[in-house]
Amino acid sequence: MKIVFAMFLSMFVIDGVFGVDGVKTVIEGDSLTLQTGFIEMQKDGLTEWKVNNTNIATINKGTGKVEYSDDKLMMMFSGRLNLDQTGFLTIWNIRIKHSGEYKVESISSVGTKSKTFKVIVKESPLKSVEDKDEIKVLSATKGNSETLHTETELQKHDLILWRFGAEGCLIAKGDTEDNHTSYYDGDDGRFRGRLELDSETGSLTITDLETEHTGEFRLKIISDRRILFKRFTVTVSEPGLSPGAVAGICVAILLVAAAAVAAGVVIYYRSNHYKVKRLISKFSEQLKQMTKLSKQLEQMSKY
Ligand SMILES: *[C@@H]1O[C@H](CO)[C@@H](O)[C@H](O)[C@H]1NC(C)=O
Ligand SMILES: *[C@@H]1O[C@H](CO)[C@@H](O)[C@H](O)[C@H]1NC(C)=O
Repeated sequence: MKIVFAMFLSMFVIDGVFGVDGVKTVIEGDSLTLQTGFIEMQKDGLTEWKVNNTNIATINKGTGKVEYSDDKLMMMFSGRLNLDQTGFLTIWNIRIKHSGEYKVESISSVGTKSKTFKVIVKESPLKSVEDKDEIKVLSATKGNSETLHTETELQKHDLILWRFGAEGCLIAKGDTEDNHTSYYDGDDGRFRGRLELDSETGSLTITDLETEHTGEFRLKIISDRRILFKRFTVTVSEPGLSPGAVAGICVAILLVAAAAVAAGVVIYYRSNHYKVKRLISKFSEQLKQMTKLSKQLEQMSKY
């Protein structure tokens, strides 16, 4: 009895009100279709959709005519709401403000039926990884700025999401519907005060780059009719270090390592002078070759 009561209570809490047939949870930018399950069977009568108790669209099953009624509401959906002949209501590129109670009522020769959906639109997740496009590779220098170009013009209902790193942390979000841009600090605040989103293109500029900004940037632009994905791999290096110089440093590290190994070997073979002599000459030969290689790399990096 107690369990039944608890279940009843939890259903009540989830639905909020009595009479909700389904809860639809979507993320901003998603598309949603509300299916009635009964209108498609009808041959006549009127079917009406309401949002928050305001009539928004009606279909006359006899004539097949669809009418949209509330101008204010239609402005809010600005062409992204559609009632089709089967009676399904579709909203694409949805926003948080489109949350609410969606009710469909049908009066026909087979009787009166109704269904109510609670639509909850959530914010984009703070972490998300989607691999849907080729990677663009960019090299940048510490202290400089770098712009990641979207190579597109923004449309009037675009949701722009920029993410960073293996976990896909949300760092910037733009919405051309309300001209709003948000920047997120992520887990460690490494982008704080350094990001700028272009309101015309959605391109992202990172200023005063640090080596910790090295990593993968992911772009997703959700438009009414398409979704654009782009990925950028950015490598931020210290100023004044050419790739050749970096190779030179690697060789230098190898030389030090080789010398350390040689020293270790010397200690190990302390008791056997003949073996030590042979080993030292072998290592010094290798060291000579490495020095030569280092010089060659230096020469190469000059051109
Ligand atoms: C419906 O009402 C809720 C609560 O007042 C509001 O947040 C939401 O934006 C409304 N939805 C629509 C589509 O008007
Ligand atoms: C957003 O900006 C555009 C162009 O600058 C303007 O036409 C539009 O009315 C603005 N929208 C809002 C909700 O402020």
